[in-house]
Amino acid sequence: MNPIAPILEVRRITKRYGAVTANDQVDLSLYGGEVHALLGENGAGKSTLSKVIYGFTRPDSGEILLAGKQVVVPTPREARALGIGMVFQNFMLIPALSVLENIALFLTDLPFIVHPKTIEKRIREFGERFGLVVDPSAPVRQLSVGDQQKVEILKLLLAQARVLILDEPTKVLAPHEVSALFRIFESLKAEGYSILFITHKLREVMACADRITVMRQGRVVGGFGPGEADLDALVTMMFGGQEAAEQLEPAERAVPPSGVGSILELRGASCPAQGSETVLRGLDLTIGAGEIVGVAGVSGSGQKELGDLILGLRSLSVGSKWFCGVDASSWSIARMRENGVAFVPEDPLLMAAVPGMSVRENLVLGTGSRYWKGVSVDWSALETAMGESFHALAFPVPRLDPPAGALSGGNLQRIVIAREMAHKPKLVVALYPTRGLDVRSATSVRDLLRRAREGGSGILLISEDLEELAEMSDRMFVLYGGALVGEFKRGEWQLEEVGHLMTGSRGAAHA
Ligand SMILES: Nc1ncnc2c1ncn2[C@@H]1O[C@H](COP(=O)(O)OP(=O)(O)O)[C@@H](O)[C@H]1O
Ligand SMILES: [Mg+2]
Repeated sequence: MNPIAPILEVRRITKRYGAVTANDQVDLSLYGGEVHALLGENGAGKSTLSKVIYGFTRPDSGEILLAGKQVVVPTPREARALGIGMVFQNFMLIPALSVLENIALFLTDLPFIVHPKTIEKRIREFGERFGLVVDPSAPVRQLSVGDQQKVEILKLLLAQARVLILDEPTKVLAPHEVSALFRIFESLKAEGYSILFITHKLREVMACADRITVMRQGRVVGGFGPGEADLDALVTMMFGGQEAAEQLEPAERAVPPSGVGSILELRGASCPAQGSETVLRGLDLTIGAGEIVGVAGVSGSGQKELGDLILGLRSLSVGSKWFCGVDASSWSIARMRENGVAFVPEDPLLMAAVPGMSVRENLVLGTGSRYWKGVSVDWSALETAMGESFHALAFPVPRLDPPAGALSGGNLQRIVIAREMAHKPKLVVALYPTRGLDVRSATSVRDLLRRAREGGSGILLISEDLEELAEMSDRMFVLYGGALVGEFKRGEWQLEEVGHLMTGSRGAAHA
């Protein structure tokens, strides 16, 4: 490692998206021969910074230096020509093409031309050297996720990148693939490559990083050099200390939860995994009327599975599920919804809307038999009810004819919410309901959930955003590895402890 001059340096990078300052005066330097971890919870600004470095977005201000010289990186192509490569969260490979073809395609936009025979030879050579062995003739669609990631890294190496940026590369990997990736890091490091490893997982950082930079709310809030990292200090940096926690407590708290009559109860509920999903283990959870129960956790801890379980999309192997005092363990999703369970998902297009159908048709989805008269839908009754719901939410009433797929994410989210809230639900399952929304829409979604609480609904709020959870929840649970590992009442939680539990860096608290 050369401690004298960084290969790449960013200085005072600021990037705003509307009212959000995604990067606020960020400084970062990368040296040859190091794994530099960029750590921070969801929304901290990590991806934004990596996109700025890779020329995917332009910063509002700040500068980038390569080997001490100021450079402009207007496009990813320019970044690649400068020796900067990036592996995105979603791979950019063409499934039908072979490994060789994918890599050859990637190389065509470089200022030099490489013969396919040479490419094939290099794939084998680099594969051996760095633990990236893949068959050059294999179609990408036949490769495991781990092997596809290897192809992405090979692409960058063959394109002569010296700085490799990997945005949450472990998110898609199985544990043994994660250790394989860290071994790849080791061998790349040994040959002087510089790796920017983006993650929100503390354990991974402790396992592989030479240096660590921690971001929170768009700012660099601290960091550690080789051998200095301290887990407790990292958690405090990542989530903010007590001071931050106090700031987050709003002074007023409406009526305490009545405790009368639970809306939903899970008793020792377990679910097997399907494919790569998380196994849910022995969940005990009660949601009362007029109460918001928050579930904190880093992604992939079983959040989606928990939502699916409550909605009736997956069945229990052990334990039971109760709805308003009735055993609902074997209820279908249709029955749950007919009985007043609403669902506000993260990605409405994927989860709760059909892009090819009109907005009007989407509004009738999941409303059961309510708007059916015989064999046809009573559209005017539907429009009246939905119009009232939009009005109550202070959302603009959308045009009903265009296909749902033509709407922006925020508009579609509003439509799904208006539909879901139109009939005074008893229970609202909200899964990352504000992720991807602009600040104003996010605020109105939170207001809406609060109003539903005042109206007596029980609300399950699953989020990765600790501040949102701290602001909204009457009680908070921590989900880790498919189990509930902590429960806190409002006023009792310390975000630092919640952070530890979320990342598995400390054992279960009182539960
Ligand atoms: N294209 C965008 N438009 C609007 N806001 C964005 C955009 N990209 C990121 N943001 C916002 O910037 C902040 C930082 O996001 P991001 O860099 O993706 O964080 P991280 O990668 O650490 O999770 C978040 O509040 C996010 O909502
Ligand atoms: Mg990100």
